[in-house]
Amino acid sequence: MKSIESVLHEHRLFPPPAELAADAAISGMDAYKTLVAEAEADYNGFWGRLARETLTWKAPFSKVLDESNAPFYTWFEDGELNASYNCLDRHVEAGNGDRVAILFEADDGTVATVTYQDLLQRVCRFANAFRRRGVKKGDRVVIYLPMSVEGVVAMQACARIGATHSIVFGGFSAKSLHERLVGVGAVALVTADEQMRGGKALPLKSIADEALALGGCEAVKSVIVYQRTGGKIQWNADRDLWMHELAQAEASTCEPEWVGAEHPLFILYTSGSTGKPKGVQHSTGGFLLWAAQTMKWTFDWKPTDVFWCTADIGWITGHSYITYGPLAVGGTQVLFEGVPTYPHAGRFWDMIAKHQVTVFYTAPTAIRSLIKAAAVDEKVSPSNYDLSSLRILGSVGEPINPEGWMWYYTNIGGARCPILDTWWQTETGGHMISPLPGATPLVPGSCTLPLPGIMAAVVDETGQDVPAGQGGILVIKRPWPAMLRTIWGDPERYQSSYFPEELGGKLYLAGDGAVRDPVTGYFTIMGRIDDVLNVSGHRLGTMEIESALAANALVAEAAVVGRPDEITGETVIAFVVLKGARPEGEEAVKIANALRAWVSKEIGPIAKPRTFDLATTCLRRVRARSCAGCCVR
Ligand code: WT7
Repeated sequence: MKSIESVLHEHRLFPPPAELAADAAISGMDAYKTLVAEAEADYNGFWGRLARETLTWKAPFSKVLDESNAPFYTWFEDGELNASYNCLDRHVEAGNGDRVAILFEADDGTVATVTYQDLLQRVCRFANAFRRRGVKKGDRVVIYLPMSVEGVVAMQACARIGATHSIVFGGFSAKSLHERLVGVGAVALVTADEQMRGGKALPLKSIADEALALGGCEAVKSVIVYQRTGGKIQWNADRDLWMHELAQAEASTCEPEWVGAEHPLFILYTSGSTGKPKGVQHSTGGFLLWAAQTMKWTFDWKPTDVFWCTADIGWITGHSYITYGPLAVGGTQVLFEGVPTYPHAGRFWDMIAKHQVTVFYTAPTAIRSLIKAAAVDEKVSPSNYDLSSLRILGSVGEPINPEGWMWYYTNIGGARCPILDTWWQTETGGHMISPLPGATPLVPGSCTLPLPGIMAAVVDETGQDVPAGQGGILVIKRPWPAMLRTIWGDPERYQSSYFPEELGGKLYLAGDGAVRDPVTGYFTIMGRIDDVLNVSGHRLGTMEIESALAANALVAEAAVVGRPDEITGETVIAFVVLKGARPEGEEAVKIANALRAWVSKEIGPIAKPRTFDLATTCLRRVRARSCAGCCVR
């Protein structure tokens, strides 16, 4: 957690570049304030206007927000639409079928270009294949795929037929995949033979086989496999199907399934402070509206832009700012299969120059690790690349430290491009607090001000506003269209996690601490106030890792804490009381390695503790998160 003093000490101010401000979607602070005032004066009128202007509806909605069953809010409920129609058909119908939708760059540098017309046909073929396999509106489909055009196609094909997708990040273990397959009651699973990352082929199908073999997911009738590498895999003829064979057999047109605005577009699991990860359920209308609207407002999207979001489709950032937002506005985007350090740590800069990227959106962890790489090896320094195509930079997933911000601003943006420090969450569906490139003066390390229509505030433990300059709990005071609708299968947990009684039951509790600047009113995020860690922008529950460790035969008890880390923001530290004697020397290293591998297997490599303290005898103080463990030895 940051100190309030350090936050309020930051006074460098960077006004928006005049040229960018001149034709930005929201041009200047007065334009911003006008929108904020419009939302305050007539909340329903404001959101209704945006929803009508930004999306194409099959049937119009007669009511904007329904609060009668709060906090189970509904938006645009009697309106009908289809997300894939909004992302594809409407652009083709408008004569933009030849526009490039995706510039795909593979791990090995091979590039494939996909137009809107191509993408629509691929989505239709896959949607038809789903239908032929009996997948229908309301069914859940789990997608366990690498970064690929096929991943986007699979998601859009689900949306086209009204099936609800649930993506599981390719780095999760068989056990995590299994939990999610069972959790959503999937009828189909889409996976790949292998994924390519950093020159290495990593298995996916065999992990999927392992997950299915754990039982309880007999509802999964089809396993559709994207052939990425041609590597050897096991084949189960009753259930397994090649994606390319299915698609070839189908027509390239497919009537979309028109769904109500509240129809669940997807479920995405994320970690909380207690229990198993939660299946965050998003709607079709409200979610899509905000994905598209924030493309226009935050990223100031223009038809000439080449947008690149480096997130994986397995996280919310990839849902909102790869699969839905950029396509909903008809944009051209780069989709990257690989990792930023392969074949060298100049890969991102090389790709920006090669594809003439104009808007670049990445995570602070990536920036910090590339700063380090450039300091060690001059050859991968951004100064060797022509980055003049860039006009806007974004940051997401974790706090960006002012030093990292300045490096990004100077070395990547050439002191010319605004940096958008976008604060939001899996649950919020899209950006909530962020600078606007043509309006907001920037302060390094601050996410600045809420977007128009977003009623963010800082309160105390009883839900009362705290004065600026005083730290508190970040809340959202009114529902917004892209908010999660519930936790899949667990409405009580939705209510108690996000609308706790202690705060009066009406405020959305984000789980972050924040402070506002007394002069500018700007928000700075201080870090999580619950037992959630943020490692390289990935959200991990300490309890989840503790339960995984406790399930190991060697372990009596375990406690997990986060430790600040220069590159990854936080790292996972595990304190473990073993059943046997305290190990020494090599034995301790062996056990630590075994436990690390165990967590990888139970959850996934991202949750692996960096270090283990196996000399712990009492976990009381560690549990209270009141010490870093040095006193428990
Ligand atoms: C948590 C949400 C946002 C999509 C990807 C992560 C942290 C996110 C920022 C930011 C400081 C941030 C918060 C938040 N976070 N963006 N700009 N500054 N912290 O989504 O996995 O749901 O995690 O990430 O702690 O609560 P997520």
